[in-house]
Amino acid sequence: MKINEHTKLKGWLVASAAVCLSGVLAMSQAATHEQLLRPAPPLHTQLVTAVEGPSNFHRLGIVFGSSAMGRTDIWGPTPESYEGPPVDFTNSETIARPAVLGGVDIYRLSCEACHKADGNGAPPEIPAVIGPVQATSALLMESRMKERGHPITAVFARELASGSKKDLLDRLKNGGQMMPAFGYLTPGETHALTGYLDTLAGVPGNGKLSHVTEPAARVGELLVKGTCHICHDATGAWPGPQELLEGSIPPIAGFTTKKALPEFIWKVRHGAPVVMGSLQLQYRGRMPVFDYLSDDEVASTYLYLMNYPPGRMAGWKGAGYCQRPSKNVGF
Ligand code: HEC
Ligand code: HEC
Repeated sequence: MKINEHTKLKGWLVASAAVCLSGVLAMSQAATHEQLLRPAPPLHTQLVTAVEGPSNFHRLGIVFGSSAMGRTDIWGPTPESYEGPPVDFTNSETIARPAVLGGVDIYRLSCEACHKADGNGAPPEIPAVIGPVQATSALLMESRMKERGHPITAVFARELASGSKKDLLDRLKNGGQMMPAFGYLTPGETHALTGYLDTLAGVPGNGKLSHVTEPAARVGELLVKGTCHICHDATGAWPGPQELLEGSIPPIAGFTTKKALPEFIWKVRHGAPVVMGSLQLQYRGRMPVFDYLSDDEVASTYLYLMNYPPGRMAGWKGAGYCQRPSKNVGF
């Protein structure tokens, strides 16, 4: 995978640059005491990279509205009932602080938009994660097979389970035909996530729930790459009212320049109408509402996008992509 290699390479470059720099500083008499005391940035800060390239829909040539990916089945208010962010809406003071994420949070930011909160997905398009996760438990495999009248040895059960665990980790790293790849997750994030998946799938004897402490920009990155990038391209021209009516989806690169933070948070968590068509009328938004996210998480997304402006993947021409809305979206 190009992105993974790129991410790794960049992380490595930053890490080695930091090592060189600290060496130089240590030797240099000119370096101030304060410079020397400054703590090295934590590793996960160095791993944050900009979102790039086409949306998952665009990559697959899928028309928005014909797929359950990214759908929450919650829709924003009608133009008549929309009240917008309250005048005294202020975002939380905790936004720029590091966040403690459990596996449940990583799942919410990265997986829930497709596989749903209960992990059951939307079959047949999006399969449940439950079965493949249960298959990673030797104990469960052994008792299941026994119940079905085909007992297997503990050794064989362990072999099967470790094969399933490898499949699960490969799936996360490389994605699938339709599922995006999550190769950018750190080992700590992956560990926390798989611990939570065990809980979700009712795997017995799992006491390994772990947490990771992340800078706000990383939280924003996980949300953008795991959720927003399903539908939104990283870059491209911001669509006009007529293009929006015809189904264009605005690029992530325009979010922070076109929307103020309160409006942005409101659009994502509660929904907002859009002005569409040559007559510039207000319509109910087509974007699903992500009510399971917090203000801080959406604000972190804004912060991430300001600090890591979306890039364009080499070779991708971007923009000019117009999707027609389908009739089955229900608005
Ligand atoms: C954009 C939608 C989307 C997101 C986000 C997503 N998946 Fe998937 N996932 C799919 C689809 C679709 C499949 C079916 C295989 C394919 O076509 O890629 C799948 C398959 C799977 C499978 C294999 C299921 C089976 O029966 O073999 C597992 C396990 C899985 N996903 C876990 C995850 C986890 C964990 C996350 C979050 C890190 C995640 N997925 C995020 C869409 C998604
Ligand atoms: C299932 C597809 C889908 C997903 C996932 C999605 N969006 Fe959207 N988004 C849309 C569509 C369609 C529009 C244009 C129509 C509308 O505004 O409802 C849109 C519009 C927007 C707009 C512009 C609103 C305006 O008034 O011009 C912003 C900002 C936005 N999305 C942010 C986000 C963020 C942030 C995420 C991730 C947390 C996200 N979207 C995830 C489909 C999606």
